Amino acid sequence: MERDPVIVVKIGGVALGSNDTTVEDIVHLQQQGKQLVVVHGGGKLITEWLKIHGIATRFVGGQRVTDRDSLAVATAVLAGLVSKEIVAAINQLGGRATGISGADGALAQCRIEDEKLGYVGKIVRVNTELLDTLLRAGQVPVISPLGIYAFDRPDGAPSLLNINGDIFASEIAAAIGAEKLIFLTDVPGICDRSGELLSRLSAGEAEELVASGIASGGMIPKIRGCVRVVKIASAACIIDGRQPHALRQQIEGHGGGTTIYMD
Ligand SMILES: Nc1ncnc2c1ncn2[C@@H]1O[C@H](COP(=O)(O)OP(=O)(O)OP(=O)(O)O)[C@@H](O)[C@H]1O
Ligand SMILES: [Mg+2]
Repeated sequence: MERDPVIVVKIGGVALGSNDTTVEDIVHLQQQGKQLVVVHGGGKLITEWLKIHGIATRFVGGQRVTDRDSLAVATAVLAGLVSKEIVAAINQLGGRATGISGADGALAQCRIEDEKLGYVGKIVRVNTELLDTLLRAGQVPVISPLGIYAFDRPDGAPSLLNINGDIFASEIAAAIGAEKLIFLTDVPGICDRSGELLSRLSAGEAEELVASGIASGGMIPKIRGCVRVVKIASAACIIDGRQPHALRQQIEGHGGGTTIYMD
C-alpha cells in the first residue's frame, strides 16, 4: 500500500516528565504535515504500580518477566494511565491523537517470545489496517505495546501479551516501511565504556556494544530495534528525551544522540 512517509517515535517512560516538550513537538510536527506514529513505554511506572500491589519485578536481557498479575498491571498502566495521559496532552494542545494498543484492530499478532519471560509477546504479524485508517483521518496513533496471543496459544492462557516497547516500535516501523524510527530516552544516546556519547554507529558496531556488555539492560532492545529497521532502509536514532525540543530538532536535522546506519 502507498503511504506518505511516516516517522515512528518511541517515548520512554522516563522521557515523560512534567516539564517535557515532547508533546509540544508532536503537535508542532503534526501541524507541519508530518505523519507520526507514537509508541510509548512505561517501564518505571509499571514497576511502581507492581510495588504498590506487592508484585516483584524481574528483567531478563532488558525485558520484563510477565506473569498473570504483572500482565494485568502492565495493561492497566500502559493502555490506561500512560496512553491516556499522552493522548489527552496532545489533544489538549490542539493536536489530533487517538490511543490504541497492539490488541486493537489485531495490530500486533504474537506468539510467546520465550517461556522464561512469561506472557511476553513476539510479534509475528502486523495488521496495519487500523493504523492506516487513523493516519488517513489525520490522527497521530499513540500505541501501547501490548499484543494479541494469536499463535500457539494453549487453552486458558490470556488473550493479551505484554511486549517490550522498543521492539514493538521497530516492528511497527518495519511493517509500515517508516522513513525513520526515533527513540526518546533518559540518556544522551548510546555511550561508550567511559560514558562518552557515540554519535554515529554502524549496525555491526552497535551489535558489538551489546555483545561486549557496554550496552546493557534497556539499551539492548533499542539497539536491536535500530538494527532491525536500518536493514529495511529506515533511519534510526536514539536521542535524549529530557532535552527541550529534542524530537523536533532531530526531525529538523540538527539533533544530537546516536544515529545507527547500515554497515
Ligand atoms: N551503553 C549505554 N549507553 C547509554 N545507556 C545505556 C547503555 N547501556 C545501558 N544503558 C541504559 O539504558 C537505559 C535506557 O533504557 P530504559 O529501558 O531504562 O528506558 P526507556 O526504554 O527510555 O523507557 P521505558 O523502558 O519506560 O520505555 C539508560 O537509562 C541506561 O541506564
Ligand atoms: Mg525500556
